[in-house]
Amino acid sequence: MDGMRSPSYIKKLDDLLCGGLIKPSCILIAGSCGVGKTNLCMQSLFNAAKEGERCAYVSLLSESETKITRAMSSFTFYDENLIEDKLKIFSINSDVVAKGDFAIFEYINENILKDKPSRVVIDTMNVLEDIESTFDERPFHKSELRAFVQNLFQEFDENEILLLATGEIPASNINESIWSYIFDTVIVLDIQNDDENNYRYLEIIKERGSDFITGKHKFTITNDGISF
Ligand SMILES: Nc1ncnc2c1ncn2[C@@H]1O[C@H](COP(=O)(O)OP(=O)(O)OP(=O)(O)O)[C@@H](O)[C@H]1O
Ligand SMILES: [Mg+2]
Repeated sequence: MDGMRSPSYIKKLDDLLCGGLIKPSCILIAGSCGVGKTNLCMQSLFNAAKEGERCAYVSLLSESETKITRAMSSFTFYDENLIEDKLKIFSINSDVVAKGDFAIFEYINENILKDKPSRVVIDTMNVLEDIESTFDERPFHKSELRAFVQNLFQEFDENEILLLATGEIPASNINESIWSYIFDTVIVLDIQNDDENNYRYLEIIKERGSDFITGKHKFTITNDGISF
């Protein structure tokens, strides 16, 4: 594919992706809890914002903005001055999520897309597994969830947005997850044991219509964020 490439702003990851992320497209950052999904996404957002890109971080976990920024403030990529100006932080309340598909769509259109951001992070997709139909007030069938997410992604696509979303999916379950076939690109993070040492690794599982470097690549998390 000859789509436009946009850097993840994480050295080495851009090399593994043969130049960067395809824009517009949707990228799943998957892995179990604590592997570094939020850090990776935030590092990409802050660095993109520093380059002048309009960015948005959307929490679906009803976390306060203070809690979200506090977790990031010890990293060197963090810059308070970018928040509000270039990097907007949204937290979709559980009330909105409980109201169902239509309410979420409306919130995203009226709050996030109206700013015309070029890069958006949704943290985490799993929350959407429990959404209901706003009008019928009953849980979604799997096919309805898929249609809802595809419509949502189409909206991002039409707005030329690079969408990164996290998924609480252990590396070993990635192939069975509905999320892995909805997304264009799937990147999985994992922690493995090796002679009593824990190490983190990143693996690109797929990138639709493009080449990438396969294999498990070790990384660490330091004050500078994720580095290989
Ligand atoms: N300054 C730092 N130096 C080293 N490691 C750090 C630092 N700050 C955070 N970490 C590590 O980052 C990890 C958390 O990363 P992150 O919050 O991105 O994970 P996550 O995959 O989003 O988890 P969850 O699924 O719980 O949201 C923790 O395991 C912590 O050890
Ligand atoms: Mg997280």
